[in-house]
Amino acid sequence: MRTLDSKVAIVTGAAGGLGRAMSQGLIAAGARVVGVDLAAAEPGLQAMADSLGAAFMPCVADITEDAGVQTAVSHALAKAGAVHVLVNNAGVGMQRINPHFASSPTRFWELTPAQWQSVIQTNATSQFLMARACAPHLMLQGWGRIINVTTSYFTMQLPGFCPYGPSKAACEANTVIMSQDMAGTGVTANVLIPGGPADTAMVTDDRMWPDRSKLVQPGKMVAPLLWLASDLSDGVTGRRFIAQLWNEAIDPGAAASIAGAAAGFC
Ligand SMILES: NC(=O)c1ccc[n+]([C@@H]2O[C@H](COP(=O)([O-])OP(=O)(O)OC[C@H]3O[C@@H](n4cnc5c(N)ncnc54)[C@H](O)[C@@H]3O)[C@@H](O)[C@H]2O)c1
Repeated sequence: MRTLDSKVAIVTGAAGGLGRAMSQGLIAAGARVVGVDLAAAEPGLQAMADSLGAAFMPCVADITEDAGVQTAVSHALAKAGAVHVLVNNAGVGMQRINPHFASSPTRFWELTPAQWQSVIQTNATSQFLMARACAPHLMLQGWGRIINVTTSYFTMQLPGFCPYGPSKAACEANTVIMSQDMAGTGVTANVLIPGGPADTAMVTDDRMWPDRSKLVQPGKMVAPLLWLASDLSDGVTGRRFIAQLWNEAIDPGAAASIAGAAAGFC
């Protein structure tokens, strides 16, 4: 169903697993998507542009730095003329530290300060910078969405998951702050997570997950995302939605009640 005609979404990390699936889903629902990713992922972005057509606008930018964020947001405003939805999805997992991060975890004292900074910057700082750059445009038009991809609470606190867990806990807390700071503006901030390890390049530990069909499939993110990005979720803010719990067979409002809860740590 084309519920998102005339909407423009920025999806960060669009060339990868969840970002690619969410971009495809948004375009199938009528939106135009500015897909942001690193230079190393440019072939993936180009392949998406070839298959999705003019509705997918690729943008190469490193969003860990404000200069890259400004490139991404200016690109969206210049090429698409507006921004309505920000999907803060780009991220890096524990595989940056150790490909067998789950079966042979790295302990926090074994990390270098540079490893900590790189994961915090990619996951937490980039979400803040993107939201900071988009929020004024969204609030000016009186309608907008900031959708932050964090992770399951147990993953945030799992032994051996430093710095990934803390980076996502920061994003979770910041979603609650964003939702309160933007209250009454027409712009909402919510969390969307897969609800378990997903079948993407981030999940590399084949000793822990030998059967990839048991992982959450990236397409599960699409139904809750489309509801969150649409007018149907007007006024819904400061919530977290678990894609794995979303029942696509029922009315989206009912599915949202089942798959949703307050974001944050109260
Ligand atoms: N895969 C999982 O099990 C899982 C579970 C919970 C949450 N998540 C979250 O989902 C999001 C998407 O991850 P994924 O599983 O699709 O992994 P992925 O590795 O397939 O995709 C991540 C994408 O982000 C891009 N990216 C990384 N750093 C960037 C930067 N500085 N600037 C621009 N783009 C950058 C990568 O190039 C890649 O295309 C992440 O935030 C991740 O933490 C994943």
